[in-house]
Amino acid sequence: MIKILTTRAEAAEFAASARFSGKKMGFVPTMGALHQGHLSLVSRALEENDLCVVSIFVNPIQFNNPIDLEKYPRTPERDIQMLINAGCHAVFMPTVQEMYPEPATETYDFGHLDKVMEGAFRPGHFNGVAVVVRRLFEIVQPHRAYFGEKDYQQLAIIRELVSKYQLPVEVIPCPIVREADGLAMSSRNMRLSASDRSKAPEIYRILKAAREIAKDHDVATVKEWVLKSLKSIDGFEPEYFEIASAESLLPIDHWDEAEVVMGFVVVWLGGVRLIDNIELRRKPSKP
Ligand code: PAF
Repeated sequence: MIKILTTRAEAAEFAASARFSGKKMGFVPTMGALHQGHLSLVSRALEENDLCVVSIFVNPIQFNNPIDLEKYPRTPERDIQMLINAGCHAVFMPTVQEMYPEPATETYDFGHLDKVMEGAFRPGHFNGVAVVVRRLFEIVQPHRAYFGEKDYQQLAIIRELVSKYQLPVEVIPCPIVREADGLAMSSRNMRLSASDRSKAPEIYRILKAAREIAKDHDVATVKEWVLKSLKSIDGFEPEYFEIASAESLLPIDHWDEAEVVMGFVVVWLGGVRLIDNIELRRKPSKP
């Protein structure tokens, strides 16, 4: 039976007893409203560890937009049932008061990593993510933690957090899980109207077409084509499309500036913010 942990003390006790019995713990931090993307992280954590712990906490300090926080979907009973079905061992569901008995004052600086793209458009977002993820790691004490590549920049920040502060946890990146029509799975998708939901897969269709165009066109042409294509879809309001190095996340002007080049996009659709990314080009590996 799944253990439902709501206080830091309960979670710490679970962690201590797991560690005492020599069990490896895999951790999947989430904000709930679970979908197959989350479950893919859970099944990977179950495969690679003795125990899987999931946290469900809608972290207020990572929302720069109060309406987004208010409208963020919350489906706790359904989430717990999904985790039971998946064979997860424990779920940590703290209250805001439990995570932040005092207002959080920690500040993090990840250099350019938290200034570009999401960092530029969502001021304070990555600081809020870093604060909560570090606290969750300290409470849950996992051996490994699983994060989806849909939030690619978040993953880069968390790797940097772990390396900079030498946190004793291995960060495991997991591929994006898509709906059959290509839409990247996200808790926010459930807020789309039926008509917007039918348009949303256009994001990935355009990204895949961009990958083809990138084979024989320059960076500026691809960028312009993607933005024009996104804007041509009724209701799409692209926030940004950036072509950047997969490693540094810095924008590039020429393909040869990075080993692996990615395209990163955010589109607003009916008041819902949708994020996605794709590998556009990779330098051929040397023999
Ligand atoms: O990706 C998310 O769901 C959140 O940003 C995370 C990592 C759980 C931190 O609140």
